[in-house]
Amino acid sequence: MILHRLVKNTDRYGLSKEDISFISSLSALHDIGKITVAEGILNKPGKLTTKEWEIMKAHTVNGDSILDSASNSDDHEKLMQIAHEIVRSHHERWDGSGYPDGLSGDMIPISAQVVSIADVYDALTSNRCYKKAFSHETAVRMICEGECGSFNSLLTECFRDIEPELYSKSFTDSGEDYLLDYATDMADEMLAQ
Ligand SMILES: [Fe+2]
Repeated sequence: MILHRLVKNTDRYGLSKEDISFISSLSALHDIGKITVAEGILNKPGKLTTKEWEIMKAHTVNGDSILDSASNSDDHEKLMQIAHEIVRSHHERWDGSGYPDGLSGDMIPISAQVVSIADVYDALTSNRCYKKAFSHETAVRMICEGECGSFNSLLTECFRDIEPELYSKSFTDSGEDYLLDYATDMADEMLAQ
């Protein structure tokens, strides 16, 4: 809306319809660099220390580097394909009850399956305006017992295997982003099967 109004008010930026549409769609990526910032800093209720603030500010340049590595890589096409899979299919469920395509079983790309279980765990263990965070134990139980939709049993098995490590990373680590590690670990385990 702001963009449309801006174009109406001035031609200073020479924005085409295509520019407006690109800016609108790509705005969703603006905080992609936050995956490099620890949860403890992102969700800290109080004021950040000087060091924490430096880390927080770095999400801009880190996000830029993430995009760089995606666009400069020889595997650009593969990266884009996986990005499409994850974005489109991370709400699909193993039994076909998810959306948007109602895919079931391994019709759901493994990339999206892994992200989906990580996403559910993250949602369960985070405070949201409509609910309080569940404990790690409750979240693990809910996921494994299918209370949040069905997942590939190979994945829930891996999830149980790494659950103690996930706990220590989620709730005690002040270092790297645990979800990213977690998704990587699960993908590694799946590949090793
Ligand atoms: Fe989503």
